Amino acid sequence: MIIKVLGSAAGGAFPQWNCNGAQSRAVRNGDPGFRPRTQASVAVSGDGRRWVLLNCSPDIRQQILATPELHPRADDGPRNSPIRAVVLTGAEIDHIAGLLSLRERQPYTIYATTRVLETLAANSIFDALDKRIVPRAALSLDTPIGLSEAGVDLGLIVEAFAVPGKIALYLERGTAGDGYGTDIGDTIGLKVTEAATGRYFFYIPGCAAIDRGLRQRLATAPLVFFDGTLYTDDELIVQGLSDKTGRRMGHVPVSGENGSLAAFATLNVHRRIYIHINNSNPILDEHSSQRATVAQAGWEVAHDGLDVHTGNRVTR
Ligand code: MLT
Ligand code: MN
Repeated sequence: MIIKVLGSAAGGAFPQWNCNGAQSRAVRNGDPGFRPRTQASVAVSGDGRRWVLLNCSPDIRQQILATPELHPRADDGPRNSPIRAVVLTGAEIDHIAGLLSLRERQPYTIYATTRVLETLAANSIFDALDKRIVPRAALSLDTPIGLSEAGVDLGLIVEAFAVPGKIALYLERGTAGDGYGTDIGDTIGLKVTEAATGRYFFYIPGCAAIDRGLRQRLATAPLVFFDGTLYTDDELIVQGLSDKTGRRMGHVPVSGENGSLAAFATLNVHRRIYIHINNSNPILDEHSSQRATVAQAGWEVAHDGLDVHTGNRVTR
């Protein structure tokens, strides 16, 4: 199974269009140690011909241009695409807005929880994707489902599971007491398995806390892409970029007592890769001490264009 990182940054990307923070300035300047990044999404394929996107960011057009595997095939008719399905982990703008760029009457299937499908249904702009051409399929939690497009099996099995998180920012209602309207299915993680080999990995770009259930699920995983939004819970406040903590935004920080570094230190995850990294996070600076800290703990920091080939057959 091949996994291609199309985009590795959090919402807003790196640099973010209106961000005057030190790191956004550095990457805009082309300073050494800083790579530009588009908004988080990966493409997955078993056969290298038919591809599934995990989330579809506003940067999808640029990401497709940068990825020859996702270009139309010369031997396949006047309009075609290797993209056969899109699986969504939530309804945040950085996960779904790219769907609007994938119109032009090209068939593929959208998979998402009922909660996320309700959001697409409630926003008529997504009717630009004619459901007879781009059908929408519901993901039930904790239920593996074989992905297919127009009845053709794509060779990949996806299992969606709820992770601690939050309703999309633009859908927030009410108060913290009721979780701003958050319900089960608003934020999910994905386990993606190649049917032919049993090889699998987890994709969790947004996660507010690493609870016991998630620890158990990931305990011996061969590969996990995980939420690397912020290094420190209050870094947006400290850097003067926002008045919100990471946890308020639905993102567990990398550092700290309950951060992802500490949580994963107790797990036996073979390969661990941060993705959905915010422009404020010092791990984006290849020369920072924080980058050295995560590398020492065995973490990779995803960059756009990173290719990951799943390893030897995994026994389950
Ligand atoms: C997030 O991950 O918190 C969202 O992408 C926020 C946003 O849409 O700006
Ligand atoms: Mn996001």
